[in-house]
Amino acid sequence: MEQYVIKGGNPLVGEVEIGGAKNAALAILAAAVMTDDTVLIENVPDVRDTNVMLQAMESIGVRVERIDRHTVKITAKNVNGHVIEDDYIKKIRASYYLIGALLGKYKKAEVSLPGGCNIGSRPIDQHLKGFRALGAKVDIAHGMIIAQADDLKGNHIYLDVVSVGATINVMLASVMAQGVTIIENAAKEPHVVDVANFLNSMGANIKGAGTDVIRVRGVETLHGTEYAIIPDQIEAGTFMFAAAITKGDVTVKNVIPKHLESISAKLLEIGCEIEESDDAVRVVASKPLSHTHVKTLPYPGFPTDMQPQITVALALSNGTSIVTESIFENRFKYVDELTRMGANIKVEGNTAIINGVSKYTGAGITAPDLRAGAALVLAGLSAEGFTTVDDIRYIERGYEDFDIKLKSLGALIEKVDSARDLQKFKLRVG
Ligand code: EPZ
Repeated sequence: MEQYVIKGGNPLVGEVEIGGAKNAALAILAAAVMTDDTVLIENVPDVRDTNVMLQAMESIGVRVERIDRHTVKITAKNVNGHVIEDDYIKKIRASYYLIGALLGKYKKAEVSLPGGCNIGSRPIDQHLKGFRALGAKVDIAHGMIIAQADDLKGNHIYLDVVSVGATINVMLASVMAQGVTIIENAAKEPHVVDVANFLNSMGANIKGAGTDVIRVRGVETLHGTEYAIIPDQIEAGTFMFAAAITKGDVTVKNVIPKHLESISAKLLEIGCEIEESDDAVRVVASKPLSHTHVKTLPYPGFPTDMQPQITVALALSNGTSIVTESIFENRFKYVDELTRMGANIKVEGNTAIINGVSKYTGAGITAPDLRAGAALVLAGLSAEGFTTVDDIRYIERGYEDFDIKLKSLGALIEKVDSARDLQKFKLRVG
């Protein structure tokens, strides 16, 4: 079983290129099946989740050509079914975007109920409510979601919760519906905007993405396009916090600084220096970190996908911090692992009360999910001694070459898959 072995203590220093946004890519890949023409998509991150999505698409006859590591050509002219039963699909939550895309184009979709990171109960009632409002009949049977319609008709849909997935899925299903669909209380995340821009480049008529009211005027068909996915806000944020946690100096490149504002603001608050340029952000952590309070919120608030990373930083700060998780109730599972590394954190419901300690000590830990897994790696990078991280398959769902990028910043980290390799690493780095 592959694991990371880390020798902590090196400040991370240097520049790192950020890849395409995983969560935008998952929706954009699914959306590409909505035209018979060929679609070229650039800046697709080469991570497990996007690869599973592409395999699922191939399973229904979509032609996927890899032009290079980050560019794919997708042709969905010869789709031979609307049933995504593939075992892989249960592994990625974003498989639900294929329901919106297939329903929107073929008025029919059968997709396994989504899996994904175990970060709390993750209902999809708002997606289904949206499909039904557009006139689809939606049933759940034998682990599948079955959606079909004679015709989809635009409607006024008020989402009860701000949901990235439901906003995107309703957009997909409504793009070729008759008339106008209005999505109220829509999510405003950068990847919602990216998906809308992608669909518009295929001929859709979507206005208001990035605000809480999105207006979709249905069009007859969509056509081919060439499109580059936006940079990954969370990958960038993770490396920015890596600088803070290891007392380093890291420049994240190829980013949209505006998307990182809530992250930069918290780093400033805890004592880091931030330098922004057009497409890069530099984080310098030369002073001891100070405490703060943070609550995760939908965009433009502080992202839930950055909650474990900021907690790892605050657990090393001076004083008491409070982190409130308001999106996913089960997102503090990693705290027990962090405690084994010396953190002093008490979780009560959706709140973590953190009393800062001066250092972590290395331990054998397990990644419970994608973002917490990455955050625990960052803890290992600052810890005294060796840390091993198991279940790194979670981390590989969403971070491309995480270990390689960290190494390029001076981290002592290695992916190993045997006790012998682990020993070799320990001997090599001392
Ligand atoms: C997306 O999940 C991301 N995943 C998550 O990233 C991210 O944490 C989350 O948005 C929030 O930003 C993908 O894009 C594939 P939501 P999603 O619907 O769409 C409730 C990562 O680490 N809700 O915005 O599933 C829900 O329970 C992953 O990359 C309903 O009640 O999240 C939650 O409390 C993990 N009913 C809140 O809304 C619904 O029908 C927001 O969830 C849908 C959601």
